Amino acid sequence: MKGIILHGGHGTRLRPLTHTGPKQLLPIANKAMSQYALEDLKTAGVTEIGIIIGDVFPEKVKEYYGNGEKFGVKITYIYQDSPKGISHAIRLCKDFIGNDKFIVYLGDNVLRKNLIDYTKKFQESNSDAMILLCKVDDPQRFGIAELDKDNLGKIKKIMEKPKTPPSDLAVIGIYFLTPKIFKVIDRLKPSWRGELEITEALQMLMDDGNKIEYDTVTGWWKDTGTPEDIIHANKLVLDSIGTENQFLIDSDAEIKDNVVVGTGTIIDNDSCIIGPVIIGKNCIIGPGVQLGPYVSVGDNSNLKCCTIQDSIIMRDCNVNAKVDFDSSIISHGSEIMASDIPKKCQLLLGERSQINL
Ligand code: DAU
Repeated sequence: MKGIILHGGHGTRLRPLTHTGPKQLLPIANKAMSQYALEDLKTAGVTEIGIIIGDVFPEKVKEYYGNGEKFGVKITYIYQDSPKGISHAIRLCKDFIGNDKFIVYLGDNVLRKNLIDYTKKFQESNSDAMILLCKVDDPQRFGIAELDKDNLGKIKKIMEKPKTPPSDLAVIGIYFLTPKIFKVIDRLKPSWRGELEITEALQMLMDDGNKIEYDTVTGWWKDTGTPEDIIHANKLVLDSIGTENQFLIDSDAEIKDNVVVGTGTIIDNDSCIIGPVIIGKNCIIGPGVQLGPYVSVGDNSNLKCCTIQDSIIMRDCNVNAKVDFDSSIISHGSEIMASDIPKKCQLLLGERSQINL
């Protein structure tokens, strides 16, 4: 089996975070979002992976993943000139796929459970496609599947973001496919949003009499379309981290619950960390810092005097401010200063921002 990770798209809903890079490289618990997809594929035994890159900083994707050796996989880059739809991106992979069954993983989807069982099930089945369904509160935001009332094992219809959804079962962004899909995509027309939709391709595949099966997702799944989704995904991933404090340099700081600290990081005695929290390498935390729960801090960041919860502070940031952050995302290389009056705030800062509160 081969794998495809979609790393193109516009990323407009995540501006300013995506002004300087593709959204799929934004970190969740200090790891690029799309790395979760790559690792899931690898764990399921899929090591030949095609990455679709678009026109939003494709060189940054290549720089991050290289030829895949570092991650134990072999990567082929496939260029999509503009985001004309998920099906359009899949069609570009026809030569790369050849006659194999394959898995398409949207690079902005994060799944709690690994793909081992699903992959085995699809490998052993004679289905022409398999999709994964997950109950959601806001079905208008997703591709939706309606099951056959008389035979719940059978899918009746698949549609893209319906205004009046017939069910709350979202089709998540991980698709198990065979090369049969390519011929179907050749007959697709752009949808109302100008894209070749994967949901329409799947519906056509079914209409042609092919077999599509489904499985349901246990545990959580997250589509990280908005900043709130990213902060929520960070929280969900941090809930499953353990404790790794052995690198902590000489600290009597108060550290509670699951906290992961990278090498070379110093936590001042006057600070308090309440897990789950992940802190990268070579950071200086303190004095006067209260961190957590649910905070990720990237490598080489220095934090002083601040209180932070439910937030992502990326690498190389400098915060020296009596400020109380909640639900914030601070991108690489940003600097936040403040006068001595304590403030509460929620920030969404693009790369290398400088602010004085
Ligand atoms: O997350 C699950 C949902 O993903 C499904 O329920 C929907 O049926 C499916 O259409 C998709 O909906 P989105 O509107 O969330 O798709 P989005 O435009 O965000 O694109 C998903 C990923 O694919 C994202 O990482 C960008 C990438 N992409 C997207 C397009 C349109 C590409 O690489 N190329 C493209 O042309």
